Amino acid sequence: MHIKTVSTTPIEGQKPGTSGLRMKTRVFMQPHYLENFVQSIFNAIGGIEGKSLLLGGDGRYFNQQAIQTIVKMAIAGGASHLIIGAEGIMSTPAASAIIRKFKTNGGIILSASHNAGGIDEDFGIKYNLPNGGPATARVSDRIFAYTLEIDQYQIADLDDIDIITIGETTIAETRIQIIDPVADYAELMETLFDFDAIRELFKSGFRIKFDAMHAVTGPYAKAILEGQLGAEKDSVINAVPLPDFGGGHPDPNPIHAHQLMEIMYGDDAPDFGAASDGDGDRNLIVGKNCYVTPSDSLAVMAANAKLVSGYRKGLKGVARSMPTSQALDRVAKKLDIPAFETPTGWKYFGNLLDANKVTLCGEESAGTGSSHIREKDGLWAVLFWLNFLANRKQSVAEIMADHWKTYGRNYYTRHDYEAVESDAANNLMDGLRGKLAIFPGHTINGLAIIHADEFSYHDPVDGSNATAQGIRILFDGGSRIIFRLSGTGTEGATIRVYLESFEPGPENLDQKPEDALADIIKTASQISNLEELTGRTAPDVKT
Ligand code: G1P
Ligand code: ZN
Repeated sequence: MHIKTVSTTPIEGQKPGTSGLRMKTRVFMQPHYLENFVQSIFNAIGGIEGKSLLLGGDGRYFNQQAIQTIVKMAIAGGASHLIIGAEGIMSTPAASAIIRKFKTNGGIILSASHNAGGIDEDFGIKYNLPNGGPATARVSDRIFAYTLEIDQYQIADLDDIDIITIGETTIAETRIQIIDPVADYAELMETLFDFDAIRELFKSGFRIKFDAMHAVTGPYAKAILEGQLGAEKDSVINAVPLPDFGGGHPDPNPIHAHQLMEIMYGDDAPDFGAASDGDGDRNLIVGKNCYVTPSDSLAVMAANAKLVSGYRKGLKGVARSMPTSQALDRVAKKLDIPAFETPTGWKYFGNLLDANKVTLCGEESAGTGSSHIREKDGLWAVLFWLNFLANRKQSVAEIMADHWKTYGRNYYTRHDYEAVESDAANNLMDGLRGKLAIFPGHTINGLAIIHADEFSYHDPVDGSNATAQGIRILFDGGSRIIFRLSGTGTEGATIRVYLESFEPGPENLDQKPEDALADIIKTASQISNLEELTGRTAPDVKT
């Protein structure tokens, strides 16, 4: 086998964001682009020689070609073992589970998560650590540093290898194992949930619709929900992964999962609906006529954890990203367990999970997960819900009403302004930053500001600090407005405005969220001058 050493030069902008490096697919397809980044990962982990790696992706356009390139580079670098999902398929949570199970030296996952796929859409790559979690900020910084000084990479001069057929082969020093991407994950799920109870639930006539959005969870949901648990045939829709996700945005929110929402709000709706994203780590939960916000879902899961077989012993603690609603904190208080508030992005949960400080964590962006792996996990969240629904024998709407009666309700919505000109977005953030000191004491639209700051986080486990993680404006009574710029967008800037209003109850617990949040929404646009600075009069996406 011939190993080519290819001269290259640093390519600007290969800085990993909230979740790895995401760019337009055509950017990734440029000569040396992928190779430079992969070699930088290898360099950042002290070389790939003698190391084992998990490889897989969400099946989007360029997934298989990228895997071929990475395999050839890993062989050239002397990797000892590569585990690859057949057809290059591997959901992010399954990748995390398999890295942990087979104790590999980490993994490379090809995905741009919930972003659209196709030659004119998005592609992404991320390195996960041997604990199965996303690279920490430190490791990401090291990878980035190597991208700035790279001058060569190695690649084996080989024909493409067969990544379709399950089996094993050895090339030079490297053992290459093509595995079923579902089996190990399904096995893990069975250890966490009472499959018998869920089977009984389906047998009793309970109906589910799971929208895989033509993304990676199709094969997982089919095998587990329909195959192992006996949900009726066609419970899983859009089940075949497609390179362009059928032209849709594989983002499980009410806007993009509108087909599911129509079913769940239509005549003869099933009892339970769910969806997952491009790489299978996000989830949407919806009952019959009852959408559950991700923040509420997280809180309800924490409150019901003891009814779920793998969590029967209770939770060590919980964590949420800062913009996620405070509903979780109220449950933690009642359970008398610690609640952590971290910056946006799953990587900040890893240390807390490793240190056994938390069992359950989540984000408002439809991500929930637990200590079973080091990524958020879409299908796991669905099984978690099914397990406590099987015990409670109530509808989703009843469970929500009961939850709000007990804890009060955190009305919540997020408004996204996408592809905003970067200067305008930065001006908006700077403007707010400049007013932080004078905000407290002001009352706007009847809302009294009690505190305003820019969120920073001190990691209690490794002592690292993350600054500039979003502007927070807190109001008397528990309401909040948060402004943040997205770290995953690939075009201009995305401004995220997180809006939350707390209603302690017992009255006013079933308002329409837009009514309950009207004053907060008005206040957010007034204090940020959003319309004037960006020219936008309405958000592109409301979730
Ligand atoms: C978004 C979400 C964040 C999530 C990330 C990766 O990041 O807001 O919660 O962890 O995608 O799925 P953002 O674009 O806001 O930086
Ligand atoms: Zn995702």
